[in-house]
Amino acid sequence: MNKKLTKTILALLAVLALALTMFACAKDGGNDDTATTDAAATDAATDAADETAEDSSDDEGETVVDYLVLVNKQNKLPDNWEGIIQLEDATNTIPEGVELNEDNDYLQTESFKVEKTALAAFRELQAALEEEGITILLDSTYRSVARQQEIWDEFEAESGLEYAQKYVAVPGTSEHHTGLAIDICIIKDGVIINANDDMIAEREIFAKIHEKLADYGFILRFPEGKDDITGYAYEPWHFRYVGVETAKAIAEQGVTLEEYLGMVPAEDVTE
Ligand code: DAL
Ligand code: ZN
Repeated sequence: MNKKLTKTILALLAVLALALTMFACAKDGGNDDTATTDAAATDAATDAADETAEDSSDDEGETVVDYLVLVNKQNKLPDNWEGIIQLEDATNTIPEGVELNEDNDYLQTESFKVEKTALAAFRELQAALEEEGITILLDSTYRSVARQQEIWDEFEAESGLEYAQKYVAVPGTSEHHTGLAIDICIIKDGVIINANDDMIAEREIFAKIHEKLADYGFILRFPEGKDDITGYAYEPWHFRYVGVETAKAIAEQGVTLEEYLGMVPAEDVTE
């Protein structure tokens, strides 16, 4: 067999193998809900996810961050994650005249850690909102598994198991481990609003905040009425950095990250 013919046959075999692999992945990717998702959008998302998963190094061989990483009740934090991300320290500047108390002085004293690109995007979002008279602060960002355990224990002790399951991820399955998730709180009329129920009640302010998220690469990760897909109740304060292009696509389609990636859960591994 001549060299050219061998090459052609090998190329054809490679294409066939790729097609079979994609068929198998699509079958594993979700349940019946996924089949109803807009096909073109799912293809685009799957391509993006495949690209990121396969191409985890840049031209210089440096490992790059997978900004589409899915961490939820069905998908734990990838093993090597903390060796890949670059976390930066960030603090809040509390405006003059805003009084702190023992329930919120962590906002001033704590040094928050956020993935480098996500933090830069957050600062831009924060500045844009400030121009509209809306002040947002970092409230909770990167969390180690140990910190997530403390939060779980606090919520369970104070509000019970059912409440904890609705609002707190089991350690190891929190998106906060990625450094790409940011919980905010707000200042309204000089008063800090950081309790879950109080923030949920601030619908008008949060609607204005949510409108701007995609322009800065963030999505609202736990939208209202999507509990059965995300696994969590509505959290108007929890934003996830995915990059501007993806954030805009997700916002336009009105879907969750799970739906966008064709990864609508079939079973809960934390139970
Ligand atoms: N509040 C979200 C679900 C977390 O704990 O990661
Ligand atoms: Zn959160």
